[in-house]
Amino acid sequence: MSNTRFPTHFLWGVATSAFQIEGAGQEDGRGASIWDTFCATPGKIIDGSHGLVACDHYHRYAEDVALIASLGCKAYRFSMAWPRVQPLGEGAWNEAGFAFYERLLDELDKHGLEAHLTLYHWDLPQALQDKGGWLSRLTCERFADYAAEVARRFGSRVKTIATHNEPWCTAQLGHGNGQFAPGYASTAMAAQVSHHLLLSHGLALQAMRAVGCQAQLGIVLNQAPSYPATDKPADAEKAALDYDLYVSWYMDPLFYGRYPARALQHLGHLAPRVLENDFYIIKQPLDFLGINYYTRGWASTDEPPIPAPCKLGVNDMGWEIYPEGLTDLLLMLKRDYPLPPVYITENGMANADSLSGDGAVHDPERIEYLRLHFEAMQAAITQGVDLRGYFLWSLLDNFEWNSGYAKRFGIVYVDYASQQRTLKDSAHWYREFITSRG
Ligand code: FCB
Repeated sequence: MSNTRFPTHFLWGVATSAFQIEGAGQEDGRGASIWDTFCATPGKIIDGSHGLVACDHYHRYAEDVALIASLGCKAYRFSMAWPRVQPLGEGAWNEAGFAFYERLLDELDKHGLEAHLTLYHWDLPQALQDKGGWLSRLTCERFADYAAEVARRFGSRVKTIATHNEPWCTAQLGHGNGQFAPGYASTAMAAQVSHHLLLSHGLALQAMRAVGCQAQLGIVLNQAPSYPATDKPADAEKAALDYDLYVSWYMDPLFYGRYPARALQHLGHLAPRVLENDFYIIKQPLDFLGINYYTRGWASTDEPPIPAPCKLGVNDMGWEIYPEGLTDLLLMLKRDYPLPPVYITENGMANADSLSGDGAVHDPERIEYLRLHFEAMQAAITQGVDLRGYFLWSLLDNFEWNSGYAKRFGIVYVDYASQQRTLKDSAHWYREFITSRG
């Protein structure tokens, strides 16, 4: 890697989410979430597992925060479990649930770590799902109430608040193909849900600002450029449509108050119902934009499709490793939108890690992945992208949604039977990187 340092105030951190690590699924009055229901449905999670214990972070948070500090990180991105603080998603607040996040924030303070909070990382209270979930506009209003309450209580203690994590996943994987909770498979539903997620984001920003929230407010989107497999016009068209459905579908409403025309035309009568004021609400000013990047998009219209070249290989999920895509993406976004400061809020690699005889976990593949993506960020910064920080996914091996515990994204290895944490080689490398060149 070039020896150029990152900007002085560039923020290095790690990321997690509530359902994936907390456990304590039935403790202290936590309500059920759609992921509890999904896990309890046979056949949905590859290894038949659930999130009731996960990494037991609910009880081990102090140890985990100390671990983050020991890595030399300055920031921690985590999410709040809505059903933990409001079991039914409306009405009574659960003080015991809020007390957990108080304790977590105290611990972060103790170590001088910045808190970066996400309100919704996919764990909708089941009670709201029973009333229609994200297909109902009422859920958007309940989400804004929840956001305002969190802003009132924690707005001065956290640095940033992101409304949603990866709304594309909630819409497409949760309602478009059924891989994720709540498990519907309908293009029309996915489109309507994506609109409601955006609407709820706008309503939440308004509500949080109305209570005088001091934290910086934004949203986290998963994004990637799409590359045509050949120079055939059909492939170029497919790549452009894929990009519109994946990236512009969220960026255009947020920055310009409209959906991209090509995507709308593609959806036809399956396009979402949009009410008169919706785009005005959605297009609230953003204090920051969070981007999650793992791999690129690849568009082929051949039958069977021409596979992506995967010159640098794939991760344990089968996702192509393609660091240049991150530079390309950031430059495209800078060209097309009036961007606020940007954070990479997730990036990392699933690897088939195991504890070796010497008690270490050797993951050279992950180190190389990180190194190349840091280079890709540097290239974007050099070309003028206002990138402010990076949150590695993830601190710990954890519950990887429908892959259960079979996929390991952590830089810290978790032995689920004993809950013992072991720093992987990549964790040592990250610490060294942050202290020497970060
Ligand atoms: C992202 C999710 C995160 C984790 C990583 C691997 O899509 O935001 O929770 O599952 O992928």
